[in-house]
Amino acid sequence: MIDDIRSACDEALAAVASAHLDVVDQLHAELLGKRSHLSGMKAKLGSLDAEERRVAGSALNQAMASVSAAIDERRAQAQRAALEARIDAERLDLTEAPPVGRRGHLHLVTQAWEQLEDVFVGLGFTVAEGPEVETDWYNFEALNMGEGHPARGEFDTLFVGRSDNELPGESGILLRTHTSPVQIRAMLAQEPPIHIVAPGRVFRRDTPDATHMPVFHQIEGLVVDRDITMADLAGTIEAFTRAFFGEEFTSRLRPSYFPFTEPSAEFDVRRPDGSWLELGGCGMVHPEVLRAGGLDPEQWSGFAFGFGIDRMAVMRHGVSDIRDMYVNDIRFIEQF
Ligand code: PHE
Repeated sequence: MIDDIRSACDEALAAVASAHLDVVDQLHAELLGKRSHLSGMKAKLGSLDAEERRVAGSALNQAMASVSAAIDERRAQAQRAALEARIDAERLDLTEAPPVGRRGHLHLVTQAWEQLEDVFVGLGFTVAEGPEVETDWYNFEALNMGEGHPARGEFDTLFVGRSDNELPGESGILLRTHTSPVQIRAMLAQEPPIHIVAPGRVFRRDTPDATHMPVFHQIEGLVVDRDITMADLAGTIEAFTRAFFGEEFTSRLRPSYFPFTEPSAEFDVRRPDGSWLELGGCGMVHPEVLRAGGLDPEQWSGFAFGFGIDRMAVMRHGVSDIRDMYVNDIRFIEQF
């Protein structure tokens, strides 16, 4: 009997060890259930005498306990294997690209910004800057747009309030709507001759679309000296156009209106294919603006221009939607 128990136990243990992991749950019934070989032996214990029954009974209990433990171990193994398989199946590859061979580079707008600076520095300008949070005076008043001037309405101004119950604009503090306030700051900061460009970020209350962003960039130019004329303006725009776009490009001025220049013009650039592109505004600095800058208009004259940097970047690279430049999608950015 003892030998039978031992061999039945060995058989059962071998069955557990070789059982496929997904049938582990059936092992218990098969090896220890009512119809199992070991249970069958238990039924036979009754026919043995007392001493034999005691010895065989305890051997049988031990055998069943060790088979049961082996089944539990096998089940734990099965669960671990299932978990690992699941982790493997659900693993996400979060590496965007191989880490080697990828180098970052300047953003499209920064590239255009720096190229513009380079060209203007080459033409004899120095680079100036002003704050992005401005006062009403610098952004409007000093630029010949006093309170109630209709042109103010064309700039969808974002106001910065000092308190929640203040009406928009009441504090006189705002996000600059153009880089033109740097004209005033430059005039107040230095004696003519002045030759500056001022690139920077500007803000307007605009809903983003393919050609507009509420935050964008402009570059302002200002020249003030004795006897500056419209011819100097046109010549500078032309020299810039050729230096920046190439010798095959030319420029033209078209009459326009800005409160801070008189006369005012739009300047366009002619592409080699003959098409014209509107680039920005310009004109002779208005006498009132010179006065706000602390200069006597009888002694000094000047010209100013301003245009969008984002537009330049978009034009240069044929980007059809200006918003693409600000999504920071690596697949877009990497193309430039
Ligand atoms: N500030 C003007 C604008 O934002 C552009 C401009 C600058 C026009 C300088 C004339 C002179 O539209």
